[in-house]
Amino acid sequence: MKVKVSLVLAILAGICSNAHAASLTFNPEKTITMSSEVRIGAKSKPEYTPDTHLYLFAADGKKAPYSYVNEYGKLVGFDVELVTRVCSLVGKQCKMIMLPFTECIFTYKDIDYAGRGLWSQWVDGCPSYAITTDRRTEFDFTLPYLATTSTFTVAPGNPSGFDPTLADYSAFTLVRLSGAPTNGACLSRLRKKYGTFIVAENLPEAKELLLNGTADVLFSPRTEIDGLETLPQSVHCDDGGAGILLRKGSDLATWWNPAFQTFYFSGQYAQMCEDASKKYGADVQCLPTPRTASPELLAMMRADPPAPSPDHLWKFVVSGKIEPFSFLDSEGNLVGWTKDFIEEVCTRADKQCHLMLAQVAECTTRDGELLYPGRGLMEGWFDACTGYFETWDRDNSWDFTAPYLSSDASFYVKPGNPSKFDPTLDDYSNFIIVHADTSITNDHCLNRLHKKFDTLLDVPTQYEAIAAVLNGTADAWFTKRKGETQLEELSPRFHCENVGTSIMVKKGSQMPAWWDAAFEEFYSTGEFNQFCLDKGLEYNYDFPCVPPPVKRDV
Ligand SMILES: *[C@@H]1O[C@H](CO)[C@@H](O)[C@H](O)[C@H]1NC(C)=O
Ligand SMILES: *[C@@H]1O[C@H](CO)[C@@H](O)[C@H](O)[C@H]1NC(C)=O
Repeated sequence: MKVKVSLVLAILAGICSNAHAASLTFNPEKTITMSSEVRIGAKSKPEYTPDTHLYLFAADGKKAPYSYVNEYGKLVGFDVELVTRVCSLVGKQCKMIMLPFTECIFTYKDIDYAGRGLWSQWVDGCPSYAITTDRRTEFDFTLPYLATTSTFTVAPGNPSGFDPTLADYSAFTLVRLSGAPTNGACLSRLRKKYGTFIVAENLPEAKELLLNGTADVLFSPRTEIDGLETLPQSVHCDDGGAGILLRKGSDLATWWNPAFQTFYFSGQYAQMCEDASKKYGADVQCLPTPRTASPELLAMMRADPPAPSPDHLWKFVVSGKIEPFSFLDSEGNLVGWTKDFIEEVCTRADKQCHLMLAQVAECTTRDGELLYPGRGLMEGWFDACTGYFETWDRDNSWDFTAPYLSSDASFYVKPGNPSKFDPTLDDYSNFIIVHADTSITNDHCLNRLHKKFDTLLDVPTQYEAIAAVLNGTADAWFTKRKGETQLEELSPRFHCENVGTSIMVKKGSQMPAWWDAAFEEFYSTGEFNQFCLDKGLEYNYDFPCVPPPVKRDV
């Protein structure tokens, strides 16, 4: 009873403050009459804030019948209609605009990255993209609205005799299209072995590669390509179909999905598909109707929409090529120590975090010896770049979290140390030191170690550095690399960075404040070092974690 009364009072107080915001005097009688009216009225009047945002969607204009520029120069197609219809169901303003597809997604050295157009919010979504395991690292998706298929296309007559039913494709040279879901990760998920797999920038290039014999088979989502032969066997690279590709952390699916579900179950979706296939003169690969859909698809279509997230999604990026720290497994999942570590600290800090991929240049760029912050970090595409040493050079332009891995550097000489280089000397002027020019083992580091030196040779990579020591051009190679067997490593090891490997953020970022507090608790209890030991067993690698805290006597 008491609870009920206080609840009613709280409601009354709330209504009173709304209805009488201007009145400073409290009048209980008036409040009660007012409130009962307001309460009856409020029941059928949900709070409504109009969404005035114009949602933009990207189309490259080349995907008939989904989105293409027609003979009058107008962007038309099934996607254009669908976006308009679904948005109008929930009173959203939406438009398709023209953008090259690489602003949505692109492939570099066999890894798919989110494009600038999505990151920079030029557009809110990119329709007609297959929903796949590997893309979920980089993107969010709406519900699927198209069915997809993946096929194998060969030159006329299938000159290399490619057979899609084989378990092992390694005798054939495969080609795929940049950004397409038909990649190596998909073949691995299908339990196929494969060897050479080249990436073509576009369809004409892929076609040329097949016709001139450089490649044997194109693995692609296309069902028909002029002048080539698409084999009848098809496979699936997707999870349920193709939907709208969204920026990671986007809230668009929270209103799009329920609107699309209504559209799908009303029968209007099927009708639109039928009409579109006639209107555009090509088969639109629609989802099956609710009557013929698989139980999996029906479950997806009946699922609750994703809830809007009240909190910032903290995005961390890695290059995805550093095993066992962060790497793509054969099926396209981003895994490794760094992912586990970030999940652990974020859980402790009660923050929502996501680890994804970005090219190194989005974190840091270089002009000679000078370092500059990258575009992605500065434009807020993501919050943090993991795995960077905090150095004085970098402190100029970035902030850092507390270090979690320790790291040091040493000198390597030719076996037998013929020039008798001694790392403990304070003066290296009589020796020629070589270093790789991107490394942190640079002149600034030597200065910070109070070493005098005359000649510091810059070479592009460790290979030239090793060659220079072996052929006598340099006396010693200064590097943080460990276990180089062609040369002899001298002790001791030196610390170039202030302390160790940290997470690098934009100057002034709020992240180190909550991260460091959570990490400090994780670390001070000894649990971080236990985590490192456990992960060491899991990944079979000796992670150079910062030393455990010194136990104080109680
Ligand atoms: C085949 O075509 C590709 C793409 O145009 C080209 O790069 C390659 O040099 C060609 N190879 C031969 C053997 O003609
Ligand atoms: C020694 O190796 C370096 C690095 O590869 C090279 O630039 C240099 O020309 C070589 N010098 C001699 C004498 O072979």
